[in-house]
Amino acid sequence: MTEQHTSLAQGRPLAEGRVVIVTGAGRGLGRAHALAFARAGARVVVNDLGVGLDGAAYEDTPAAQVAGEIRASGGEAVVSTDDIADMDGAANLVRTALDRFGRLDTLVNNAGFLRDRMLVNLDEDDWDAVIRVHLKGHFLPMKHAAAHWRSESKAGRAPRARVVNTSSGAGLLGAVGQGNYAAAKAGIAALTLVAAAEFGRYGVQVNAIAPAARTRMTEQTFAEDMAAPSDGAFDAMAPENVSPLVVYLGSDASHGVTGRVFEAEAGRITVMDGWRRAAQADKGARWTPEELDPTIRDLLTKSPDPEPVYGAQ
Ligand SMILES: NC(=O)c1ccc[n+]([C@@H]2O[C@H](COP(=O)([O-])OP(=O)(O)OC[C@H]3O[C@@H](n4cnc5c(N)ncnc54)[C@H](O)[C@@H]3O)[C@@H](O)[C@H]2O)c1
Repeated sequence: MTEQHTSLAQGRPLAEGRVVIVTGAGRGLGRAHALAFARAGARVVVNDLGVGLDGAAYEDTPAAQVAGEIRASGGEAVVSTDDIADMDGAANLVRTALDRFGRLDTLVNNAGFLRDRMLVNLDEDDWDAVIRVHLKGHFLPMKHAAAHWRSESKAGRAPRARVVNTSSGAGLLGAVGQGNYAAAKAGIAALTLVAAAEFGRYGVQVNAIAPAARTRMTEQTFAEDMAAPSDGAFDAMAPENVSPLVVYLGSDASHGVTGRVFEAEAGRITVMDGWRRAAQADKGARWTPEELDPTIRDLLTKSPDPEPVYGAQ
């Protein structure tokens, strides 16, 4: 039995002794993840800037409320109100974990917001803001956390660190009206593969989830699909249903699982099988544009059809 698996074998809480950062943990999925990590024995850095659904400034302190909930149930938590897409904010977030708890084991990148528009109506600001909060908001905390883990590794204290990123079905399959968001979330899937390949040598595993749950992001647009049952049946779209996978991927127990994207919704977990080569033609010389028409049509008949884009007719 490897050391990594002892918490499973001994029936101890999966995240016991770990220090975990959850970004955007004041509401929705992030809040559920933070509470689940605390229940699993982790000390939690509860990060949230407290912005509105479109990223606009908003008078709210959701991170403090969640940290309060964790402390009220006997757990340990510290609040961060750093902007995760800001270089200094992301550095300060990682420093908060190290200063307060003396270590960092797991980073859950989750914060973000939406500004949905058809591409033809999408303003430059709405493009920039959504790409910034999701894509840069994943890159910067990972960069600062990885710098810490690399120095730990070099000092001979091999980390068993974990990063759990948050992509989306919109990024993996596309979604009408979400060009900015889909591009950012597709970027997060690629970033996850690169980070897993680069950080493996420091003892860091990196995976991503594509969740679906009832939060302020979805409860109006998909009201019918997201509604809680009134008859006491399984509340399939509760955000708490996604968190067990995040705790698992963020714990020692997931040893060896890295560079993967998992869809998580209700009681269903799906391994997403990303871009891979399908049918191929090699002429061994340069094609003419004219001869490509039959060739491309032949290749497409020999290749699987793509999954439908969300919202496409
Ligand atoms: N809800 C779903 O079905 C669903 C589906 C696919 C992906 N996601 C993704 O899951 C993640 C969580 O979404 P949610 O549905 O819980 O939304 P949410 O709006 O309830 O929570 C997101 C939180 O992130 C915080 N935040 C925004 N910008 C921030 C910043 N710069 N720094 C720190 N915090 C910031 C917000 O204040 C908010 O509390 C997002 O990345 C979202 O894109 C959600």
